[in-house]
Amino acid sequence: MSLDEPLPRIAFTLNGSDIDIAVDPSARLSEVLRNAAGAKDVKVGCNAGDCGACTVLIDGAPVCACLTAAGQAVGRRVDTQAGLVAHAHDAQRLAAAFQRHQAAQCGICTPGMMVSAIALLRSGQPLTEARVADALSGVLCRCTGYRKIIAAVLDAASDGSAPMTEGGIGAPISRLDGGPKVAGTERFGDDVAPVDALSVRVIRSPVHRARFAFGDLEAFQRTTGLELILTAQDVPGTNTFGVIPGFEDQPVFAVDTTRFKGEAVAAVVGTAAVIDALPEFPVTWEALPAHLTPDQAAGADLLHPDRAENVMCRGYVARGDAAAGMARAAHVVSGRFSTGFIEHAYIEPEAASARRVGDRIELQCCTQAPYMNRDAIAGILGLSADAVRILPTAVGGGFGSKLDLTAQPYVALAAWILDRPVRMAYTRAESIATSTKRHPSEVWMEIGTDADGRLGAIRFDGVFNTGAYASWGPTVANRVPIHASGPYLTPHYEAKSAGIHTNTAPSGAFRGFGVPQSAVAQEQLFDVLADKLGQDRLEFRRRNCLRNGDPTVTGQVFETGMGIADCFDALKPQWDRALADAAAFNATSTTVKRGVGVAGGWYGCGNTSMSNPSTIRAGVTPAGDIVLHQGAVDIGQGSNTVIPQIFATALGVPVGAVTLVGADTDLTPDAGKTSASRQTFVTGNAARLAGEALRARILRLGNVGPDAQILPTDDGLVLSDADTTLRIDLPQSDGYAIEVVESYDPPTQPLDENGQGAPYAVFGTAAQMVELEVDTDLGTVTLLKFTAAHDVGRAINPLLVEGQVEGGIAQGLGLALMEEFLPGRTENLHDYLIPTIGDVPEIDTIIVETGDAHGPYGAKGLGEHCLIPTAPAILNAIAHACGARVHHLPATPDKVRAAFLAANGGTA
Ligand code: FES
Ligand code: FES
Repeated sequence: MSLDEPLPRIAFTLNGSDIDIAVDPSARLSEVLRNAAGAKDVKVGCNAGDCGACTVLIDGAPVCACLTAAGQAVGRRVDTQAGLVAHAHDAQRLAAAFQRHQAAQCGICTPGMMVSAIALLRSGQPLTEARVADALSGVLCRCTGYRKIIAAVLDAASDGSAPMTEGGIGAPISRLDGGPKVAGTERFGDDVAPVDALSVRVIRSPVHRARFAFGDLEAFQRTTGLELILTAQDVPGTNTFGVIPGFEDQPVFAVDTTRFKGEAVAAVVGTAAVIDALPEFPVTWEALPAHLTPDQAAGADLLHPDRAENVMCRGYVARGDAAAGMARAAHVVSGRFSTGFIEHAYIEPEAASARRVGDRIELQCCTQAPYMNRDAIAGILGLSADAVRILPTAVGGGFGSKLDLTAQPYVALAAWILDRPVRMAYTRAESIATSTKRHPSEVWMEIGTDADGRLGAIRFDGVFNTGAYASWGPTVANRVPIHASGPYLTPHYEAKSAGIHTNTAPSGAFRGFGVPQSAVAQEQLFDVLADKLGQDRLEFRRRNCLRNGDPTVTGQVFETGMGIADCFDALKPQWDRALADAAAFNATSTTVKRGVGVAGGWYGCGNTSMSNPSTIRAGVTPAGDIVLHQGAVDIGQGSNTVIPQIFATALGVPVGAVTLVGADTDLTPDAGKTSASRQTFVTGNAARLAGEALRARILRLGNVGPDAQILPTDDGLVLSDADTTLRIDLPQSDGYAIEVVESYDPPTQPLDENGQGAPYAVFGTAAQMVELEVDTDLGTVTLLKFTAAHDVGRAINPLLVEGQVEGGIAQGLGLALMEEFLPGRTENLHDYLIPTIGDVPEIDTIIVETGDAHGPYGAKGLGEHCLIPTAPAILNAIAHACGARVHHLPATPDKVRAAFLAANGGTA
């Protein structure tokens, strides 16, 4: 329709209310529901029918609203999650079950999951796991691994117990922020912009590398009705950003040349109608030779002329004498392994909105790093940091990529210049093409043991494709050599890494920062060694585990909390049972073969050898209300629940007595970024200190002993000890009557030139095993069961631990079996495949609690650890099943079949 034509009206029933609105009947129903009818609980993850986030009921049947024309709703009944939960008892029971089982993590898929589940529940069919999986198969979740969602739906027909809402350390309470997620009232990055906000579209390079020139931009703006066109010359501050000091190399807008497909060169700002109707932007492109792999980039012309070569940075750790150790080894194995780009594929694409408030700018965005965003936007706008306010929305999955800037600079620049609110949401194609990725890796590794199978030496050389810009590449290059040994005692060690610039989207942070890639090599070679030695594969690992008092490859010694042997011990009964089951199965099965695989992993929590403090503020109002300002962004992992549990325990009050003020750079001190498995450990420690400090202040005010109870009441704080019960008089104040601010910074040390030192205060460890079947005719892999033992030090909330493990395993199996981003080719969720509900089998999580010297109440971080052992365990199980050893991921059926044929002399 033309911009001048009046829109027709359409009428339908939405959540029980009649509505009559003027819209284009051919518009997507999802957009009409969100933008014209205010139903922000209808989420848009792809606009292509791939993710199911937009699922609604039309006359009781589930449909993808993004593929449904608004005109098809005329005269019909449309129901969304929020309406269903507000009005229907069965939906309320389902919401309660989702809370009970913690089936919503980030919550962005929850509307689609719950709406699909309600259709199933109303069908009257008996509920089975297979039927639930089938009914929900059109909805993708990137966080949960689906197991808790299935459990919640199976449980939804019962009235069940009420979700657990109270409990300190160790209590599996429901998510404190879960209510809005299951009610459909949570607000994500694209849900919060004012209705009159202008829209931004970024003009991006269509090729991997190009020289470009603009046409007449002024004439284009005049004739199209755009409010603004932005290019590099409109950036008042610095036209580059980055996350690592010294590596801020990514332009907000490229100048003259682009370095990857999708790189921004300009942005247009206008009403949504004007933007949608834009003719072709006046820019000409001259494609230049591009280098997409480290091999191609070696010796090629420089991506960054200020660097001497296309190497972004290198990492190095050496201990003992690796060459001599290898020469003395009785058994030596080596191999080359590779992994591809992995896309984060959070269901919520990047989104942000901004508005100017006098001499300040405010951004609402889905970010993992509010303070880093604040400082970067200040640099780009040429403002002081305190002139920028970041208000994180709910984050619909992040996994590392939402640490980096995406839409924020464009909405901030436009809102600042125009003094009008501006919004932007990435399309799925834009998100996949331009957001950071897991680094592709090419690894060579050599491992030697003595005659008994004791590790003697490891040599490792890893090359990582870091893309066009640095992002978190230096972190990967530094972290990998520290972790490439795995959690095993290695006397002689040498590990090198290099991050290589190529003409691809930047590689950045993705759950594990390179460690999952190195584990693919190390844990597979461990199986090769164990087989060579004729030893049980789990026993081989257990004998070589780091124990308390052993030096790591950086020479760091942990006297407590090195729990990897406990994890393998925890697997042992299942391991023995599974091996026997596989042997029995294989005795009678010819083409389908069963295998069992195991792998270990470790991960240092927090930044590598760097200060990374978190600060927590808390106070008591004059009326006696306890308020916790916690700025650790919850991206689904649970910090909005774990941090209050820790704080409440330290303060000695029920968690329900604590009011949470969530992340906002004006209201919450810097709790650092949500990454590197640091929030439970680092921010948790700050919360513990804040709780203890506030407790001490309250008890002092009441002049009671250290064991007195603090009892929050409607009438204020009451203190009770053996002798007295008294209500304390709190000082009158405009702010808090009592306030504390506490920080925690993990004790680490820098590494020397050989990588020796204490890079982390805490390591978490894990061991996982998997049972699977391989169809040797087809090369297909069917996963049967995972058993995962994780040493979390102390489980603050065991249900959250399970959720993290299950979600990490789902991402790990994607890495192993199906995921690979191909620049320019897999820019949607039907070519880039992630695990669906049918891909994730039963997962049995075993929580191991060995405590920790530094963690709050002994707790360690967990987020990254969950997927590190998953891919190698799967690859080891494939090899165990049929001899097929896959070196280059993903292990798609063609590669499994080829490896099977190679292992069997070219014949089936
Ligand atoms: Fe409709 Fe993804 S937004 S299926
Ligand atoms: Fe499903 Fe985050 S909870 S995508």
